[in-house]
Amino acid sequence: MCGIFGIVTNQNISVGKIALDGIKRLEYRGYDSCGIVSQHKGKLYIKKDSGKIDDIHKKMKLDDLPGKLALAHTRWATHGAPTKINSHPQIDCSGKIAIIHNGIIENFIELKEHLISNGHDFKSETDTEVIPHLIEDAMKEGLSLRSAIFNALKKCKGAYGVAICHADHPDEIFVVRKESPLVVGIEEGKTTYCASDIPAFLPYTQKCYILDDDEIAILRPGEVEFLELNSEKKVKKNAIHVDWSIDAAEKGGYEHFMLKEIYEQPEALKRTLAIPQASIEIFADMLLSAKNVYITAAGTSYHASLAGKFIISKFLGKYIQEMECSEFQTQLKDCLEQDSLIIALSQSGETVDTIEAVRWAKENANVKILTITNVVGSSLTRYSDHVIVTQAGPEIGVAATKTYTTQVLTLALVGITIARKRNVIPASEIECYHEALKNTPEIVKNFLANNIHLIRNIVKNLEKSLNFFFLSRGISIATAKEGGLKMKEIACRFIEGYSAAHAKHGPISLVRKGFPIIFIAPPDETYQRLIGNVAEFKARGGKIISLVIQSDKIIADMSNITIPIPQPGDKYHNLISPITFIPALQLLAYYAALEQGLDPDKPQNLAKTVTVH
Ligand code: AGP
Repeated sequence: MCGIFGIVTNQNISVGKIALDGIKRLEYRGYDSCGIVSQHKGKLYIKKDSGKIDDIHKKMKLDDLPGKLALAHTRWATHGAPTKINSHPQIDCSGKIAIIHNGIIENFIELKEHLISNGHDFKSETDTEVIPHLIEDAMKEGLSLRSAIFNALKKCKGAYGVAICHADHPDEIFVVRKESPLVVGIEEGKTTYCASDIPAFLPYTQKCYILDDDEIAILRPGEVEFLELNSEKKVKKNAIHVDWSIDAAEKGGYEHFMLKEIYEQPEALKRTLAIPQASIEIFADMLLSAKNVYITAAGTSYHASLAGKFIISKFLGKYIQEMECSEFQTQLKDCLEQDSLIIALSQSGETVDTIEAVRWAKENANVKILTITNVVGSSLTRYSDHVIVTQAGPEIGVAATKTYTTQVLTLALVGITIARKRNVIPASEIECYHEALKNTPEIVKNFLANNIHLIRNIVKNLEKSLNFFFLSRGISIATAKEGGLKMKEIACRFIEGYSAAHAKHGPISLVRKGFPIIFIAPPDETYQRLIGNVAEFKARGGKIISLVIQSDKIIADMSNITIPIPQPGDKYHNLISPITFIPALQLLAYYAALEQGLDPDKPQNLAKTVTVH
């Protein structure tokens, strides 16, 4: 959940500045404290504090550091409050070994007790601090730095990505990965980088290596060596070339990443439509031959799975059981059937509960894993039998936006392919569904171009109502839930996304005169019944805001405010409404956050990727 960045170079460049820029690009991974260390003439230079990177930089000039090697860290606290002393880097007693860490050392208490009894002096409450002391301990016994690092890390249990430097080693960074993402970027012969995520070094190089679990990389200026942690043997790795553009990782004129990424959706959808059909076919064939099908994910990806499950089951002729990934093992431990297939969705591919769900399933039954992720080579892909990479491009905003719509689109492409393979609808209808999918970029683009004023007005109107509902039926329950999640995480408001039918079984008692209810109402098979639900809430004084297609008359007339989505009212477009209706709710959350003076890119207590249980 923290961000790691490292640089070692033989060039005349400011490693402090590059390291600072690097962690700024990783700030979405955590932002309660940060720190930088550089190495120069046998000494480590450290600057760190609690707070946001920009504020700390103003106080301390984080980029003003000597040397040709630096490590930098942005933290999301787990063990130990977000204080200066707990921020990274953490060092050993001698002050010669510095480490930055993402993850949790699960056995740190016993390691710490042992080290204290050996005379080590701990300064912080972090689990991280055991690592430099373990290395120091091993070096005191005569091991080289390299052997001491192997020795120390073999003692650590848990999940971690770490980067280590030593005052007497001016041109070596040691990077270790165990279940926490780490990538290495390289400018041959000049500079080598490591980071938790590719965008951090994207302005300097597109050539990178993805570390596997239990691997160590030794970074030297312009070169890198890989070794297995357990056997200490060399590993041969192939570099990959990432074709993300540099400005994909920058704000490109937008005030926030979240807004930029909302606006990037038409392009992201277009790229996703171009995913090779052969890959979609493999996915579809595996679904067709599976006995039982589960779909699992967390947060926004889980909501995408709800929409996707709806679309695929319509054509698959089999029930797809959705399951929050954190519940997967608990709920299925006595009944996971052989020959099942699990669809795992995760934009990052690093969500620990999703990874654990599929890993557990693979270990306990003969199952196949189909993964949809936005990150090539992410951890989840290692447990997968087939992977489709959504083409959203890097998503930096903590709130998932374009990765959601591209996930749903990917699942819809699979659904339509299954419909064709099973011959369940005429070819002419398949064509109409395809047309509707192809129209999604244009519909979203038109909506975004014409409705900002309306959304901002609604936000002003809603300003006094801290709580309200997003209600819907059928496939749009996914949209209601996702809209509600965006409002909670970005605008800090308790907005419940709920089934309009179910709302009568309790939540309706909250409705008073002027209580806002946003209905998501594409004219699908649930529309007639939804009219009844709108009437019930209106009769109790509710203020009705409806998300409808442009030509809607009935629910639009019953509403105090309507948000028109520019799409036709046929069944083909209704099925893709989770993609075309959600941008309105993403914008609503974004502007509601601004209205309250909140930073939409830095929602409180959140990190983009949840790598701890
Ligand atoms: C999305 O806005 C949230 N920040 C969060 O719910 C997220 O979707 C969830 O943590 C799952 O992440 P993943 O898609 O990377 O697995």
